[in-house]
Amino acid sequence: MTDTVRQRVVEATYREATAKDVEAIAALHADSWRRHYRGAYSDAFLDNEVFADRLQIWTDRLHQPDRSNESTIIAERDGAVVGFAHTILNENQEWGALLDNLHVRHDLKGGGIGTCLMAETARALIKRAPSSGLYLWVLEGNKAAQAFYQARGGKRVGSKTSDAPGGGTIFAFRYVWPDPTVLLSQESSI
Ligand SMILES: CC(C)(COP(=O)(O)OP(=O)(O)OC[C@H]1O[C@@H](n2cnc3c(N)ncnc32)[C@H](O)[C@@H]1OP(=O)(O)O)[C@@H](O)C(=O)NCCC(=O)NCCS
Repeated sequence: MTDTVRQRVVEATYREATAKDVEAIAALHADSWRRHYRGAYSDAFLDNEVFADRLQIWTDRLHQPDRSNESTIIAERDGAVVGFAHTILNENQEWGALLDNLHVRHDLKGGGIGTCLMAETARALIKRAPSSGLYLWVLEGNKAAQAFYQARGGKRVGSKTSDAPGGGTIFAFRYVWPDPTVLLSQESSI
């Protein structure tokens, strides 16, 4: 690690989320969607419903008695949730676990937190489902995230059209990591 690179890495701690984190994760999720998904998701949804929608989703997810098929890793800094990665294990026979959501607080983007969240996700996956691959969907218009996934070793394989939350249609690309161990080595290079 060079001094130049080390200077821009944002310090954070990483742990599995609990039910106490519901509101903080939902707030970050809603804020990130508002900032980055405008044009893909409807203005009415982003301006009015998005927080309630995310609060319901995260309440359901983090209050489930059996979370053995899911992993939610959060990044914390000064007691605040500044990023999260949510993964559903064994989601697809061919591609393995689905990294369903990955978001970093807007003012800390580019500081290495996303890379560390992917490495922590890979670590949890390797422990809980050792031979599993990892994959995700990224919106067609989200070029920055596509570049991030490519830089993290993801390969674009396929695409789909689906319904957007709040109405409308979205188009997304699939990125895959058949061997998620490649994500571990990237963490040590930031
Ligand atoms: C995508 C996201 C999770 C990445 O997290 P992050 O903490 O910003 O990313 P990191 O700082 O760990 O890594 C940035 C790296 O990605 C690559 N990268 C990111 N954006 C890039 C761009 N626009 N062009 C080229 N490379 C890019 C670079 O390789 C960069 O690392 P490097 O400069 O050290 O080579 C974060 O930016 C985010 O929350 N974006 C908004 C929400 C979102 O789009 N989520 C993904 C949904 S599918």
